[in-house]
Amino acid sequence: MGQDIREAVERLKRERDAVVLAHYYVPGETQDLADFVGDSFALARIASTCDASTVIMAGVRFMGESVKLLNPGRRVLLPEPSADCPMAHMVDPAFVGRCRAEEDDLAVACYVNSTAALKALSDVCVTSSNAVDVVRALPQRTVLFIPDENLGRFVAGQVPEKRVILNPGCCPIHRDIPAGSVAAERDRHPGSVVLAHPECPADVLALADVVGSTAEIIQAVEGSDAGDFVVCTVEGVGHEIARRCEGTGKRVHFPAPAPRCPDMAAITPEKVLACLETGSGEVPLPPDADAARAPLERMLELAARGGGAR
Ligand code: 13P
Ligand code: SF4
Repeated sequence: MGQDIREAVERLKRERDAVVLAHYYVPGETQDLADFVGDSFALARIASTCDASTVIMAGVRFMGESVKLLNPGRRVLLPEPSADCPMAHMVDPAFVGRCRAEEDDLAVACYVNSTAALKALSDVCVTSSNAVDVVRALPQRTVLFIPDENLGRFVAGQVPEKRVILNPGCCPIHRDIPAGSVAAERDRHPGSVVLAHPECPADVLALADVVGSTAEIIQAVEGSDAGDFVVCTVEGVGHEIARRCEGTGKRVHFPAPAPRCPDMAAITPEKVLACLETGSGEVPLPPDADAARAPLERMLELAARGGGAR
């Protein structure tokens, strides 16, 4: 990235009273322009307290929607409005309706990787860093977990006292990480630590020494004494790991083919600059905003109480 882009972004941020938030999956050069880089939970928390009049969300559409829901009075812009998470749509609302009709002690827990319309059908949101704690804290014994079947199955394994109903949705990028490739990478680097995002399929999670959100994976690498790490999530996390572990000689390996999310990869520094210049990519307040905001706020409340979310 040219120094000219960086300088122009910094100047426009001041002139427009704008703040740039970025997820760890966007290109490293885009992360470098951000005022704050984090996992989905950290971004939601920042969004709820942010006081700049314009928020540029360097991430996919559901992240922009969450910022808008939590900050309805602020202008929220997406540098690449077509960048969307396919998993965010993978729930049939009629399935939620059927489960509600059939189960009398049901909570609907909705991964934040979901449309506002799906959040509006739910009781509480979760992220990958707090899903286990939030589901455990719910008063209901039966939980419909949407949309991610892999995260839902992982949560069910950690919270055996609940009956978890799964939904057939998943992240296509994590779904396609082959367990054989993870094992091959681990064997190529004796003593390596395997870290996996809970969106990975069960056979990959079975190989993992650490299962966690992007932020938890980054922290685990930073805090480990090992030298080699097999990281089973989108390759964008390598940028923050390299920044934090500079000079330590730690080596990060991704299972082949390196997991890449095309929607996240589309959010380039040039698009952040264009968005600041033109004010394009504004996220409207979704219909059903009050109903969609409530489960997000419930998640944040649990976090503030320290009972169910970090
Ligand atoms: P986290 O930010 O919770 O680790 O989730 C990753 C993700 O899939 C974002 O698209
Ligand atoms: Fe969606 Fe997967 Fe891309 Fe995250 S990595 S935005 S879950 S497709």
